[in-house]
Amino acid sequence: MRARGRRPLVAGNWKMHHDHFQAIAMVQRLVLRLGEQATRDAEVCVLPSFTSLRSLQVLLDGDESPVVLGAQTCAAQDEGAFTGEVSARMLAKLDVRYVLAGHSERRRLNGETDAVVAAKLAAILRNRMSPILCVGETEEERAAGRTLGRLEEQLTGALAETPSADVVRTVVAYEPIWAIGTGLAARGVDAQEAAETIRSQVRSLHGDEAGSSLRVLYGGSVTETNAAELMAGSDVDGVLVGGASLDADGFAAIADAAPRGR
Ligand code: PGA
Repeated sequence: MRARGRRPLVAGNWKMHHDHFQAIAMVQRLVLRLGEQATRDAEVCVLPSFTSLRSLQVLLDGDESPVVLGAQTCAAQDEGAFTGEVSARMLAKLDVRYVLAGHSERRRLNGETDAVVAAKLAAILRNRMSPILCVGETEEERAAGRTLGRLEEQLTGALAETPSADVVRTVVAYEPIWAIGTGLAARGVDAQEAAETIRSQVRSLHGDEAGSSLRVLYGGSVTETNAAELMAGSDVDGVLVGGASLDADGFAAIADAAPRGR
């Protein structure tokens, strides 16, 4: 049985796709397509580029939309001489509710270490938003049987210093790196096993309440075809979707597949 209060979250990471005109059209269509059932059961979040956030805030504010806003990264500092950076404080002013921390593309392409991820996570929490902390193993780590150990290391690196009261607001996304953008999703049983490990690691770091109320997502080649299976495990509370979130109809179908009856 899923613990009460863990509302499923279906989040669409658009990465560097969709300018703000496309973003508006996409979200208008998404709102239209989302069945009442999906919006009642799952929280649906889109994570566009920074340049689209203000347009979408205005659009979503106006009509009590079922869609909430997320961002793909932020700076660790709230303000200062950091050319090109965007702070969590600025994102909070745009009604952003979720911010990714430690997505594997940023770890790999932007050199974000566990320490940097932990600092960004703290900035997101300090500004009263929820981080979506991404963790996951490489193909080599998986082949070496190091999947669960790697998850524990990344969780400890990012969450050991986080106050337990804040961990309750944190979302963790299990994103095996070999599954991202490859069309090779994990199996539902693997997503469940990883989610269970994540939850028990958080429990051992921060106690039962944090472990039970934390939401755990699966990400990596989620489609409307495999979404229901990937969310079937009792510890999997939703999905983080890349490519398949770019199309409104497909993303709405994924939201419709979110678990019911909580
Ligand atoms: P994908 O990306 O769904 O395109 O595999 C997932 C992600 O990077 O979060």
